[in-house]
Amino acid sequence: MTRILGIETSCDETSAAVLAGSGDAVALESLVILSQDVHRVFGGVVPEIASRQHLIALVPVVTRSLADAGIGLHGIDAVAVTNAPGLVGALLVGVSFAKALAFGLGVPCVGVHHMEGHLFATALEHADAVPPFTALLVSGGHTLLLDVEAWGRYRLLGRTRDDAAGEAFDKVAKLLGLPYPGGPHVERLARQGDPSRFRFSRPMLRRNQQPGDDDYYDVSFSGLKTAVLHAVRGSTPDDAAHIARAFHDALVDTLVEKTARAAAQFGRTRVVLGGGVAGNRTLAESLRERVRRLGAEVYAPSPRLATDNAAMIARAGLFHFERGERAPLDLNAFASQPLPGLVDA
Ligand code: KG4
Ligand code: ZN
Repeated sequence: MTRILGIETSCDETSAAVLAGSGDAVALESLVILSQDVHRVFGGVVPEIASRQHLIALVPVVTRSLADAGIGLHGIDAVAVTNAPGLVGALLVGVSFAKALAFGLGVPCVGVHHMEGHLFATALEHADAVPPFTALLVSGGHTLLLDVEAWGRYRLLGRTRDDAAGEAFDKVAKLLGLPYPGGPHVERLARQGDPSRFRFSRPMLRRNQQPGDDDYYDVSFSGLKTAVLHAVRGSTPDDAAHIARAFHDALVDTLVEKTARAAAQFGRTRVVLGGGVAGNRTLAESLRERVRRLGAEVYAPSPRLATDNAAMIARAGLFHFERGERAPLDLNAFASQPLPGLVDA
């Protein structure tokens, strides 16, 4: 049994969590997430402010998560920290803190790729959300479609060619005059919209696409965002909900179709969603309906584990720790880095 402290500071959430167990038999003992509200007034994350806020919040957030778990610093066997991808200044706060803490306690430190964390998040709530499965990771910065044969063995099938799904939600929210982060606001407004009023074409979806085609699994959302911009220009305020609905339908249809193709091609009976956009109910429900005829089950995280959190970092960190991986003292932070464990497609 290992008790691991997870730390996440890659963007605008300062988070710490304590997780104990081994393999897939783990228990989450605490999770503290402090969301930096300050960025709302700027309509997006301001990197330097994010770093400074992490510096202020990290010690109290870690202290709180240890107290919630009922342990002291010496109850920790290892420290896991997000070291890529993300805002470098923000990541450096967590990385520097984690290395110093691990060194001071004389325990190992493990670096975790943020998107691999999202891949593990759903397993914390659903015992069956474990490999083999098809994974759709949809966050503010990334959109990845993967076939997961085993933890640590990932086949990258598709990705976005421009904007990430969450980024598209945030940009469309801005065009519609909704607050940041826009995903939940667009989802809510879209529910009130009439689906027959506007229609946007489904990006990268063509009839007769074959698994070998290079756009079979990739997605692209920047054209959709431009279509929304043109629709907003010629519309009345009453149209906002209808436009949100048309955008939402086009984006969800595209993601659902691509994910269902992957599950069918690899014969997977489990589909796991991860990342902030995975908290979107419509996406999970549409996917569930679409893959039912394949006999596949869909697992989506609750909003708390869908958005950035340290529990998923502790969970992915435990996996690497158990494989004997240890971060060197010069562990660094990187704005972008390929997912570890990629196998040839
Ligand atoms: O994974 P995450 O918390 O941070 C990154 O790693 O980027 O994802 C944040 C993104 C934001 O773009 C936000 O608008 C989006 O997730 N999001 C949603 C929903 N909740 C959060 N998008 C669509 N529907 C939602 N319900
Ligand atoms: Zn994330």
